[in-house]
Amino acid sequence: MHVRPFTTAAAAALLGLTLALTGGSVSAARTPAPGPYRLDAPEVFAHRGASAYAPENTLAAIDHAEALGVEWMENDVQRTKDGVLVVIHDETLTRTTDVKRVFPGRSPWRVADFTAEEISRLDAGSWFAPAFAGTRIPTLREYLARLDSNQERLLLEIKLPERYPGIERETVQLLDEAGWLDERHVGRRLVVQSFSAASIRAVHALRPDLTTAFLGTPTTAELASYAAFTDRINPWYGGIDADWVAAVHGLRGPHGRRMQVDAWTVDSAAAAQRVRDLGVDGIISNKPDVVRDAVGGF
Ligand code: G3P
Ligand code: CA
Repeated sequence: MHVRPFTTAAAAALLGLTLALTGGSVSAARTPAPGPYRLDAPEVFAHRGASAYAPENTLAAIDHAEALGVEWMENDVQRTKDGVLVVIHDETLTRTTDVKRVFPGRSPWRVADFTAEEISRLDAGSWFAPAFAGTRIPTLREYLARLDSNQERLLLEIKLPERYPGIERETVQLLDEAGWLDERHVGRRLVVQSFSAASIRAVHALRPDLTTAFLGTPTTAELASYAAFTDRINPWYGGIDADWVAAVHGLRGPHGRRMQVDAWTVDSAAAAQRVRDLGVDGIISNKPDVVRDAVGGF
């Protein structure tokens, strides 16, 4: 198993902090400084996996993130014609697969118009780089199993829920079957998000214990209404300021905890430091290693 940088870095930072607080002068002199690590650094989420380095939303992308020592994965979930939940961002298969070559007569090549068996035949890696030829679109079930074996966590986005009536119930059911609704996963390893407030309300109603996030930037006047059903508000990073982040933090979500903010999609060190300084709790990035290093994360 990969040994995460977190283990060493966190231990060094915590030891340094402990020694500072207890005045451990002799040991402290021999203890490496925490260096750039910050205990208050935002959590980093690998957007569609480590998608700057491997094809997005594939098992290769979450394996790459695991190798980088990043724990949180973000993905996108849609549904096939025969009702299988799969991990893919776009409404159509054209950008990230060879679907036009394999199924030339099936325009506009929507995910929802293909069976899972048909989708399993597509190459979802060659568009990114020849080294990833043969990479497949994973089903959500396969994806969850790989996350578990990698000991990763999931920020699961229900994508385009208005196109897939009932997808909230099906997603929750699959999470349950895959063992992702036990205390360990619900408590620390899973957040469900969507751009659709109705979808997040539905998830909250189905499983009130789940942590949820709304993707968007409600006005400060609107925020209180979101606190009834979501724990986190996840905005585009360019559309927020410190007052807005503080307004979110001023509310308690459905579980009685301070509401949190995860900003997307941040790929440069400068932007990461800017949103960290606004007070965000998480940063969603295609280059999670770059962001983690820039903000002093573990
Ligand atoms: O998690 C935030 C981000 O994924 C939202 O945008 O289009 O990449 O799903 P998109
Ligand atoms: Ca997404």
